[in-house]
Order: sequence, then C-alpha cells, then structure tokens
Amino acid sequence: MKPTTTPKTYRVKSFGCQMNVYDGERMAELLAEKGIMPAPDGEDADLVVLNTCHIREKAAEKVYSDIGRLTKGKTQAKAPMIAVTGCVAQAEGEEIMARAPAVSMVVGPQAYHRLPEMLDKAVAGERSTDTDMPPIAKFDALPARRKIGPTAFLTVQEGCDKFCTYCVVPYTRGAEISRPFNDLLTEALKLVEAGAREITLLGQNVSAWSGEDEKGHRVGLAGLIRALAPIDGLERIRYTTSHPADMDDALIAAHGEVDKLMPYLHLPVQSGNDRVLKTMNRSHTAESYLRLLERFRAARPDIALSGDFIVGFPGETEAEFEDTLKIVDAVGYAHAFSFKYSPRPGTPAATMDGQVPKEIMDERLQRLQSALGRHQFAFNQDSVGKTCGVLVERKGKLPGQWLGKSPWLQSVWFESDAKIGDLVEVELLEAGPNSLAGRPLAPALT
Ligand code: SAH
Ligand code: SF4
Ligand code: F3S
Repeated sequence: MKPTTTPKTYRVKSFGCQMNVYDGERMAELLAEKGIMPAPDGEDADLVVLNTCHIREKAAEKVYSDIGRLTKGKTQAKAPMIAVTGCVAQAEGEEIMARAPAVSMVVGPQAYHRLPEMLDKAVAGERSTDTDMPPIAKFDALPARRKIGPTAFLTVQEGCDKFCTYCVVPYTRGAEISRPFNDLLTEALKLVEAGAREITLLGQNVSAWSGEDEKGHRVGLAGLIRALAPIDGLERIRYTTSHPADMDDALIAAHGEVDKLMPYLHLPVQSGNDRVLKTMNRSHTAESYLRLLERFRAARPDIALSGDFIVGFPGETEAEFEDTLKIVDAVGYAHAFSFKYSPRPGTPAATMDGQVPKEIMDERLQRLQSALGRHQFAFNQDSVGKTCGVLVERKGKLPGQWLGKSPWLQSVWFESDAKIGDLVEVELLEAGPNSLAGRPLAPALT
C-alpha cells in the first residue's frame, strides 16, 4: 500500500447486535477526536469502517461484496480507506487481510481503541491487524461521550462463557467480563449530561454482570440498576440480553420496586423442546423457563416478554418444533426475533447429524413467525385504553407527528407539538401489528 493523506471524513456501518451499534458509536468518537468528520449523507467518505457481525451465514461474503462496491473501478488514491472491525474481523481477520488488499485495518471487538494508531500506520502505507482481547483496556482508552439522542446504549458486560453449540459469540467476543461499577456510574452520568433520558445496559449476558459498589459490596445487575436509578434526568432503564441461567431474585424484585426500570424483559428461549435445548447446551428446560417468567410476572404483572428462537436446529423433528409453537402460546410474547439455524464454522452444531433441509426450515420459520405476529398484535390490542409515558425519539411521516416508545417498547405515534427527548403522557387509542396510535393527554413533561 502506498502512503496517503489522513482521511477528512468517515462513515461507520454497523451490522448485527446493539453492542455493535454501541461499538460503532465509540469508534466514531475516536475518529472525531482525531479531527475526522462524519461524511454528509449521500457523499462518499474518505474512511469507511465496516463493523461486522458473524452470527449467521453470509456475513463474511457480505463484507467482501461491500469492499468490492467501495473500491470498484477506483484507483487506490480515489478509493476510500477501509477498516474491517467487529466479529467477522475477529473470526476471519487473517483471511480478510489476505483476500482483500483494499483493506488497511482489521480490528477485533476488544481492540478498537487502537484504531487511531492503526490509522496513522495506514496513512504511512502500512496495513495492520489487531485481534487481541485485553479485558477492559478499550473502555479505559475511549474518549468522553459527545452529544447524543434521548436513548443511549451502555455496555456493562461483554463476552460469553455459555457456549451454546450453535453460537460464535464466545469465540468472537471472548470470555465474560464485567466493567467496573464506578466506570459505569461515571459513563451513565456523562450520557445523561449529553442528553440521554433512557439508558439500555448492554451485554451478551447482561444479567451475568457483577461488581463492587461504592461500599465494596458485591452486587449484581439489580444493584447496578438501583445505583443508576437516582440519576437526575434519567427517566428509563432497560437491559439486554439476558440468559435464563443468570436471573436472580434481586433482579426480579427490582422489576417490582424500581420505577425507572421498564416493564420489559428480553429472555431468549431458542426452543420449546427439552431434547433440543440440551443439544443446544442451553441450561434451562421449557418448564424451568416458564417458571422463571412466572416469577417476573408476579413481581411486575404488566411486564412485556420478548425472546429469540431458532428453527431447524440439527435433529429437530416436526414434533419438537411444535413444542416451540406451544411455548410461544404459553408465554404470549409481546415481541420476538426468530431465525433459521445457520451452521457456523468451528461450532459443535455445525457438524452434528440431522442438518435440517432449507425448505423445512423455511416452512417452520413461517409458522413460527405467524404465531409470534399474532401474539404481538394481541399484546398491542390489549394495550389500547392504557395511558403511559412515550419517550419521543423522532418525527413521524406527517407534519406534527411524533414517534416514540412506550414502557413496553412498542412504537407509538401521536400528533402534538412535542420535541425529540420529551416524555409525553399518551393514551393508546388504536393498535396495529407493529405500532400503536395515541393521543397526548397533557403538554409534554419536559
Ligand atoms: N447473548 C444473547 C444473544 C446471542 S445472538 C443470547 O444468549 O441470547 C442473538 C440470537 O441469534 C440468539 O439468541 C439466537 O437466537 C440467534 N443465533 C445465534 N447463533 C445462531 C445460529 N448459528 N443460527 C441461527 N440463529 C442464531
Ligand atoms: Fe451465544 Fe448462547 Fe452465549 Fe447467547 S448465551 S451469546 S446464544 S453462546
Ligand atoms: Fe453479531 Fe458479534 Fe453481535 S456476531 S450479534 S456483532 S456479538
């Protein structure tokens, strides 16, 4: 690679989960600190960061086709500088360097704080890879948060030790680590100062977070939530994603006691069949999962439940799939994500017998999604007539129309003279499958 000039503009494209979105924001802040500006909409950027996800198939192919599109017909002088970051970078860094000469930097999810120095090298004409996994180091090296919108993510825990047999995350994000309590309190305060009114605590297994509070007591996620709740100006706290194995009594109790903790729980079950769950190396059964949800419902009766599902896991029979439909009906999810099983290189399930044909997976996914859609619509219909706070996130399509989220994470639109960041008291009037229409009751509670 030839030496070049320092890029003036950047664009970060994040794929995958909310943690990648958080990481993408933090990388943007690092670049801004170096005086590089976000590229205006519709204009080419001098530096493109492809912040990738490896969770399902075609992720790597997508990276190569994005690189192709960015460099097609362009000389090195004209093409943007490219950094590949995120989970594909971690899993396939060497290969990307070998196959895509247009890529200057490959940076794993635990190493992106080193992006600025790697950028200096790239400007000098040197390509570099960093897929080391030093725990915590990146967070300490990140700059302060800049102005942000009303909802913000805060990574509190990262990595996973659960090793579900289908999943790449323990390999791409590394072992479970918890960020220290004080660092999180400080970052949350800065987020609120920068404009956040809602904070979503993030972790691959966020409920496994643990730390030492100001008095030196060991606390879990509930303790952290209780410590964040008194922050002035912070109105809402959420957390995601939880694993059924790490949910403790303190977290359940917090749902009944901490007003700012929203009545919403994303708790992936993956399958409703115990044999499949065991082969997946999930530590729960259908029954233990349902019992756990009952305890949350006892603490917070209106809690909205959400989940993740995989259809067509190797060996899944029709009857076993039907157990998944049964658990969907038993829970009555307000929201859910569902996926076809995708064999991931290096995971145990990829080489298991009984890989399910694509047509069967397609058909099961369709049946599952229609059941989930039915429950989501029913949940939205049950909300009609309720009055709740809606945190305004953006303008709607028509003038005077605003869009925000209910406590149960439903999209609600209404007409008023509100502004982004207002928490407006709204009566829910009409339900659709994916959103609700409402009417503001009083002027915005700014
Ligand atoms: N830590 C979270 C999220 C993991 S990834 C958890 O434990 O649930 C998000 C979802 O992607 C998973 O819950 C699972 O439903 C899905 N997923 C993970 N690996 C997959 C694979 N190989 N094929 C299809 N879906 C997968
Ligand atoms: Fe993946 Fe399982 Fe860990 Fe979730 S708990 S990140 S699905 S290995
Ligand atoms: Fe994807 Fe990595 Fe998140 S694989 S889902 S970006 S942890």
